[in-house]
Amino acid sequence: MINNTYKNKNILIVGGSYGIGEALCTQLAEAGATLAIVARSEEKINTLCDQLPGNHLAIRCDLAKKSEIDILADKIEAEWKQTHLIIFCAGTYQPMSIENFNLGEAKKIALLNFNSLLDFIDSFLPLIKQKRMSQLAIISSVAGYFGMPNSLAYGASKAAVSNLTESLHYELKKYHTKVQLINPGFVKTRLTDKNTFSMPAIISADKAAQIIIQKLPKKHFEITFPFAFAITMKMLSLLPYKIRFWLFERSNKDNK
Ligand SMILES: NC(=O)c1ccc[n+]([C@@H]2O[C@H](COP(=O)([O-])OP(=O)(O)OC[C@H]3O[C@@H](n4cnc5c(N)ncnc54)[C@H](OP(=O)(O)O)[C@@H]3O)[C@@H](O)[C@H]2O)c1
Repeated sequence: MINNTYKNKNILIVGGSYGIGEALCTQLAEAGATLAIVARSEEKINTLCDQLPGNHLAIRCDLAKKSEIDILADKIEAEWKQTHLIIFCAGTYQPMSIENFNLGEAKKIALLNFNSLLDFIDSFLPLIKQKRMSQLAIISSVAGYFGMPNSLAYGASKAAVSNLTESLHYELKKYHTKVQLINPGFVKTRLTDKNTFSMPAIISADKAAQIIIQKLPKKHFEITFPFAFAITMKMLSLLPYKIRFWLFERSNKDNK
């Protein structure tokens, strides 16, 4: 039950054109929020804005370009007195083993998932320092808990995102911004459609958005789901390397 939590709140969804971000846009607009939807797919976000109930902004921005993030920050600063919530959903993924290691792709993953978040923080510093950003939620992944097979670039980029978000939690408190980390398990989107292995406990993007929306107003720093899968991953992260490596190598063998 989300009552009126999001009614008339200004919410920026970074990476709102597809997947989890799109589902968040739909549900938050239905809950009465005013959105700024950001992505590269201009036509897609314009159509989304037109279809959703309420008046929303569609802002095309390529997060790989710092100059475009600066323009985005200026637009938000000019448009809204207070930004109540920012959800940073933008990200990319490519399964990568040593056999198909691709430096160009690996750097693209690292740059979009991590460097663009640093750029984003830099561009939004004035808003933060003026105490005009109330809440920042960053989507990382349970894949950032520890290194896994077939995840040469993605897992490392998400470990960096999670670590940065933890630091931001302390630093932005000084400016009254509540920072939260979202660590989903498998969610069915165009990203996971690239996987050829079986994905335990996979949920829909609508379900993921529903959980995020319910949990964001609470005090937790970390929002992780689905519950049983996330707890299993957390427990695996606490195991000594020797045991975790043995478990993963065994399950890798079983899957071949
Ligand atoms: N799906 C999962 O199982 C899963 C699990 C754990 C974590 N996650 C994380 O959840 C987040 C959302 O993933 P998803 O599965 O919903 O993926 P998705 O459907 O591919 O959505 C990714 C979003 O990021 C935007 N984006 C990508 N590159 C961009 C760029 N250069 N500039 C601006 N926007 C960009 C995309 O918009 P445009 O292409 O229009 O620019 C899209 O709106 C990601 O951070 C992902 O790593 C996903």
